[in-house]
Amino acid sequence: MSNSSPAFWAVIPAAGVGARMAADRPKQYLQLGGRSILEHSLGCFLDHPGLKGLVVSLAFDDPFWPSLQCAADPRIARVDGGRERADSVLNALLYLHAQGAGDDDWVLVHDAARPNLSREDLDKLLAELADDPVGGLLAVPARDTLKRVDKNGRAVETVDRSLIWQAYTPQMFRLGALHRALADSLVADANITDESSAIEWAGQAPRLIEGRSDNIKVTRPEDLEWLRLRWTTSRR
Ligand code: CTP
Ligand code: MG
Repeated sequence: MSNSSPAFWAVIPAAGVGARMAADRPKQYLQLGGRSILEHSLGCFLDHPGLKGLVVSLAFDDPFWPSLQCAADPRIARVDGGRERADSVLNALLYLHAQGAGDDDWVLVHDAARPNLSREDLDKLLAELADDPVGGLLAVPARDTLKRVDKNGRAVETVDRSLIWQAYTPQMFRLGALHRALADSLVADANITDESSAIEWAGQAPRLIEGRSDNIKVTRPEDLEWLRLRWTTSRR
């Protein structure tokens, strides 16, 4: 493990509609402890001295972003998102290249809907991967017993969970390698749900760094209820 934390770019895909949340606006704009979820998700990066700059991918007609305080932050650039999350990330990487960022620069991609990233986890990821040839991601080992089910929702098998982890974000890769992997896997129509899956598709093995399990992605209403409860009991 390296002692020095590398400098990095942050990319925040925030162009999703939040269909599973079924709220009156995309979930990244729902409130949590007096600020939007998106502002919390950006905050951990904006507070970090290693940040070179941040790119946020937004729906082209996003009416909410301009009213956030951080919209005026000169360290933040805005690009248009795309159809899938991978398209949104790719647009941000294209922007970074156009700005002169180097192929070997580290890029950390973090979900806009993941507002509870701790500084400790961010520092751990940066330190553990500083000298890694591939990069990696925060992740959490599966805790519950896992079932494979049939079409009728009946358990047919209990899956060995010892080698199963849940992929979280940030995911940390070199700009050039991530750009190539995402672009090539999109052209090949591969099933890419996160940056790691693109790098895996390209034949590399990202490292999993164990993070806190409360760095959850807000996906359904109960996730936000849980975070709001936590926020009121442990003021951050
Ligand atoms: N995202 C994006 N561009 C897309 C789709 C998703 O930037 N075309 C972003 C979301 O804004 C979110 C992150 O990717 O921050 C993770 O995606 P997810 O949790 O699936 O968010 P949504 O797609 O908004 O939610 P849902 O799938 O329920 O519609
Ligand atoms: Mg989605």
